[in-house]
Parts: sequence; structure tokens; C-alpha cells
Amino acid sequence: MDIGIDKLNFFTSDMYVDMGELAETRKEDPNKYLIGIGQKKQAVIPNSQDSVTLAANAAGKIVDDFERKNIDLILFGTESGVDSSKSAAVYLQGLLKINPQASGVELKQACFGLTAGIQLAMGHIMMNPNSRVLLVGSDIARYGINTPGEPTQGGGAVAMIMSAKPSILKINPGNAHLTKDIMDFWRPLYRKEALVDGKYSSREFIDFFDQTFNEYKERENLSTSDFDALIFHLPYTKMGLKALRIGLQGESKEVQQRLFDQFDASKQLNAEVGNLYTGSLYLSLISLLKKGKLKDNDLIGLFSYGSGAEGEFFTANTVPGFKSVLENLDISWLDNRRQVTVSEYEDIYKASLEFTDRNFLTGFKQDKSEFKFMGQTNQQRMYK
Ligand code: HMG
Repeated sequence: MDIGIDKLNFFTSDMYVDMGELAETRKEDPNKYLIGIGQKKQAVIPNSQDSVTLAANAAGKIVDDFERKNIDLILFGTESGVDSSKSAAVYLQGLLKINPQASGVELKQACFGLTAGIQLAMGHIMMNPNSRVLLVGSDIARYGINTPGEPTQGGGAVAMIMSAKPSILKINPGNAHLTKDIMDFWRPLYRKEALVDGKYSSREFIDFFDQTFNEYKERENLSTSDFDALIFHLPYTKMGLKALRIGLQGESKEVQQRLFDQFDASKQLNAEVGNLYTGSLYLSLISLLKKGKLKDNDLIGLFSYGSGAEGEFFTANTVPGFKSVLENLDISWLDNRRQVTVSEYEDIYKASLEFTDRNFLTGFKQDKSEFKFMGQTNQQRMYK
């Protein structure tokens, strides 16, 4: 049975800060951020968006009446949860009016949450061939103003529907996985901003990729030249480039050129948004599918990394006709976002809300998104 991605969409806020301007304000050479980190713009997320509304805005475009009736499982990957008990999947079920027979849970392992969801969905669909599973990866990446991590912030959500007989991507069974209990990036419950050992995390990322990529090729009897594209979780786009350089050592010029070109296509959207945590690998997938040179049945290798840490390498093939299906996936709105100044971005950053027992309202009246977080009354979150 072929199982994979049938529908795909993403969402981020309609505001961004320019990375060249941010670098100048921080007294850095703009090329450090633009080339050294590899980011052009960074999504600025207002306090009227949280992981639930980002997900609803991404999923709302692919959940029509047919899906509302037929989705039987919602898997919500996030490390920006809004409640320690109630899952964001249940909020999403309510906002999108998905039938009450559908079950849903939230999945957490740093940026790996959505990939964990994909593997769970594969098993679920195998047992229930008529199933339609809604998956989302939704996060806000925050490190702090004027910290080394600042140029690697961002936020947004990727949503997908997985099913048997998918129209976009067939996910191949099997993967190479690695788990190691390390402290490269973490966020204790009392903190809004992540703690990170940046250089260590980047070294571990590369090591996890190297090990899982080689393990996968050995298990499946594949060589690097068999791949039509290799894509990565992209906390910042240079991170993927560094890992790819390791993966392509010793390959022919032709193979290197082909895979570097496809990688270049796969990083375009990420360079315009920043880190999405759980959604990053899948935003890169969208970028590749929309901007890369892929044909029907092409083989894509995907590397997922979630700090703490879990890494996984798995593969997928494009489904014949995927290009016409993707015509429905509009990415043009990204070019119409509003640029905010560095000082506006800092104000929006500081207006982000603490978890509190008080009643409050967000700036939802200025937010033009379909789904908004309005605030809190009697310790209950209010969504519109
Ligand atoms: P830094 O220490 O300020 O930067 O922070 P740097 O000094 O290492 O410079 C960065 C790059 O810019 C270097 O290139 C410089 O040479 C280059 P590299 O050696 O890496 O190839 N550079 C320039 N290039 C051109 N022109 C110039 C120039 N100047 C310098 N003028 C760091 C960088 C990534 C450490 C920091 O931003 C950070 O801590 N980020 C957050 C952590 C992170 O993203 N880690 C990635 C791996 S972990 C992961 O992916 C998981 C994660 O998504 C979380 C999760 O799983 O939930 C983060």
C-alpha cells in the first residue's frame, strides 16, 4: 500500500524583519546573517498568534467539508505548547470543526515532533486504509533580543493530510534513527526563550545526519547518487548546507552540482521565514517541490533533527502528477508581507505574553489572519 502526503500547506505571520537591517542594528556585518547564517528575512509573530492559531491558519486551507467528515486522527507536533494537559490537537479540532469521532494528540520532541507524527500516521493508515490523518508542526522560535540565536528565530506552521494513495509524495517504509540524551538546546518549563549551546548543537546536527544517512544507505542498499534531492531540518539555511557538504564528500562533480542545486531550491522559503522548529523540514520540502527541478517518481532524502536529541533519515518519492496538484499551494502571499523596522520587531517581541492566571487581551484587532488568539478569560484561552 502506498502511504504519504495528499495535501500540504504552510502559514506564517504577515510581518517580517530584514536580516541585513537586523545585523546592522546589532553592529554585525550583514553578510554574517545573509551568507554566514543564510537568512534573508525573519517572520515576526504577534501576540495574537500562538501555536494553535498558526496551525489552524495553515490547516484551514486544506481542511474542507470532505476532510472535516473524514479525518480520523490529528497529530500536532509542537514545542510551543499552550497547556500542560489539554493538547493543541483538541483546540485545532474545535477551531476547524473536524468531526468529533476523530482522535488527536500533541507530540513533543523539539523539532522532531512532526516527523514522529508522520511515522505514527504511516502505521495508523496501514491498519485503517480509509483513514485521513491531519498533521501539523507549529512553533514560534525565540532565543532573545541581541543573543547569538536571534538571527535564527522565526515561526509558523506546516499542515498536511496523509492518506493511502497520496497525490503528492509517497513516504517509503523504513528509516534510520538516532537518539542521544544531550543538552544542546532545551527550554525548561519556566522559560519562554530557549537555552542553547549553539556551536555544540550545530556539530551534533551534522554528526546525527552523517550517522543516519550512512546507516540508511547501507540498510537500503542505496548510494548518494541514487538521490534526486537531499533536504534538511533548517534552523538556519547554512546549517543544511554544512551537513550537505559532509554528505557529498567524495561524490562526482555532476552528483554534487545536482544535489547542491536542489538544496538551493529547498532553502528558499526557509531563508524568508526563519526557523519553524517542527515545521522547518517540511517548509523546506514545500520549497523544493515548488522551486526545485523534480520529476515524477524522484527520490527525496529527508533529514529530521530535534535537539535533545533525536535524528532521523527517511525517504519519499514524488507521485506522478504531483506538479499539477501543487498548483493549489499558493506561496505568492509571502512576497506581500509587511516589513517592520528592527525597533517595531523588538516591541512586538516584548509584547509577547507571559503565562499568567490574569485576564488579558492580545492585539488581535490588528491581526488580519483567519484564526486569532484573542486573550484569556477565567484562565481559559479565547480563539476567534
Ligand atoms: P554565532 O556564534 O554568532 O555565529 O552564532 P558564528 O560566529 O559561528 O558565525 C556564523 C557563520 O557566519 C560562520 O560560518 C561564520 O564564519 C560566518 P560557519 O563557520 O558556521 O560556516 N560569518 C560570515 N560569513 C560571511 N561574511 C561575514 C561573516 N561573519 C561571520 N562577514 C549560531 C551562530 C548558529 C551558533 C547561533 O545563531 C545559534 O546559537 N543559533 C541557535 C542554535 C541552532 O540553530 N542550532 C542549529 C542546530 S540544533 C537544531 O537544529 C535544533 C533547533 O531547531 C531546535 C529544536 O530542535 O527544537 C535549534
